Amino acid sequence: MGGMVLGIDVGTSAVKVVLADEAETIVAEREAPLDILRPGPGASEQHPDWWWEATAGVLDGLARDEPSAMARVAGIGLSGQMHGAVLLGADDRPLRPAMLWNDGRAGPQARDLRRTHPHLAAIVGVPPMAGFTGPKIPWLIANEPGLVERIRTVMLPKDYVRFRLTGEKATDVSDAAGTWWFDEAARTWSVEAARATGLDPAVLPPALESPAPAGRLRPELAARWGMTGPVIVAAGAGDAAAGAIGIGAVRDGDAFISLGTSGQLFVSNAQYRPAPEQAVHAFCHAVPGRWFQMGAMLNGASCLAWLAGFVGSDVATLLAEAEARFRGPGSLLFLPYLTGERTPHDDPDARGVLFGLTPASDRADAMQAVLEGVAFSFADARDALAGSGTRVTRAGVIGGGARSAFWMKILASVLDVTLVRYAGAAKGPAVGAARLARLALGQGAVESVCVPPPVLDETSPDPTLVEAYRERLGRFRTLYRTLKPLFADQGQG
Ligand code: XUL
Repeated sequence: MGGMVLGIDVGTSAVKVVLADEAETIVAEREAPLDILRPGPGASEQHPDWWWEATAGVLDGLARDEPSAMARVAGIGLSGQMHGAVLLGADDRPLRPAMLWNDGRAGPQARDLRRTHPHLAAIVGVPPMAGFTGPKIPWLIANEPGLVERIRTVMLPKDYVRFRLTGEKATDVSDAAGTWWFDEAARTWSVEAARATGLDPAVLPPALESPAPAGRLRPELAARWGMTGPVIVAAGAGDAAAGAIGIGAVRDGDAFISLGTSGQLFVSNAQYRPAPEQAVHAFCHAVPGRWFQMGAMLNGASCLAWLAGFVGSDVATLLAEAEARFRGPGSLLFLPYLTGERTPHDDPDARGVLFGLTPASDRADAMQAVLEGVAFSFADARDALAGSGTRVTRAGVIGGGARSAFWMKILASVLDVTLVRYAGAAKGPAVGAARLARLALGQGAVESVCVPPPVLDETSPDPTLVEAYRERLGRFRTLYRTLKPLFADQGQG
């Protein structure tokens, strides 16, 4: 079926939307910012209705500005931040704000699950960690008595937007994969894992393959946005897998880095390849019959935004200052663990550190340290994947952080990996969501739709920098190891 498609990525910092035609020409891209609630130490929450209001607001604007394109929309695809707990009661309203992927409060519950159910990690793709949906349930049982009994439906963030768009309750396998309740090999819910966390498996929605149709846009919304024909909503994907679809990383061994609020090193796999001892995430891909391995870091380009706020400047200015000064590895070290870390440390108590300050240190030094610190955390992920037998020598880059050629130069040399940037890659997951809508409409097959976009440039590692950064990486690791007991003592303050 022909027609335009919308790709909607329910991110953490913003809802991002692309409107594209059958030839994948992007007619419009829009976004609406989102706030985060931090109601206590380690807490990170958003209200599901904010995602809906942001999405509806963007589509209202597109209907106003692009009426003829919107009239031809035939499909919608969804991508979203993973792991958040959207909990609906009997009236289908959220029982509380959603605890997000970077909420670290369920650390003790994750540790308990690791002790009591050690065999589940190999089934659900990853050891229990604070940010996953599953361990949030025992945290709620312990901290908000009576709430879990009132849950009638659990879904992931993008699925709440689907519910408001279509009235259907569903998720997809790549997002279900990140709940800690999913049997990755069988691509179906694990009743045992759900029960282990105190959840009644009956509240889990159907988990469909990502390109499958999963509902139709409500007629009143189609009318509000001027859409003339039926509009199919695809099952969609978690943002990691949707980013992969957007960049065409679907064949065995295809790798890419995502530099959004969080950071990921993602490798597509033909088989399910769990490596829980490396804190690698092994999840279902958005392509039927495929999986992926991922090093998942909680702090990506968000560290740049944090520093900009801290010193009262903006990211572009700080990048320019650091680049003008750059002569090789900087004098300061930065541990990027502002909201804790998953791969490889599984440490929700870890925190950010700027180490080595002198009276001469300035914000350009700090910016370089931040760029390098995030890059070192990717080197840890590279080595975690290597520990599972997966070697990366070439990787695409997506997400807002991909805009900086200077950061690419640092990352390529820290990782000793050739990095490839693609046209439009900053909006990767939204583009992937739009592609899933095209697949749901039958506008092509995976092989023809999920192809890499045109290459913008490639950055090769610089042998001198590779050597120099190897030594700094050792110091970065020593700094974390040395401070780890102090982070634990301090708790989540
Ligand atoms: C992946 C992860 C993040 C979120 C938010 O494991 O936690 O990428 O999906 O983007």
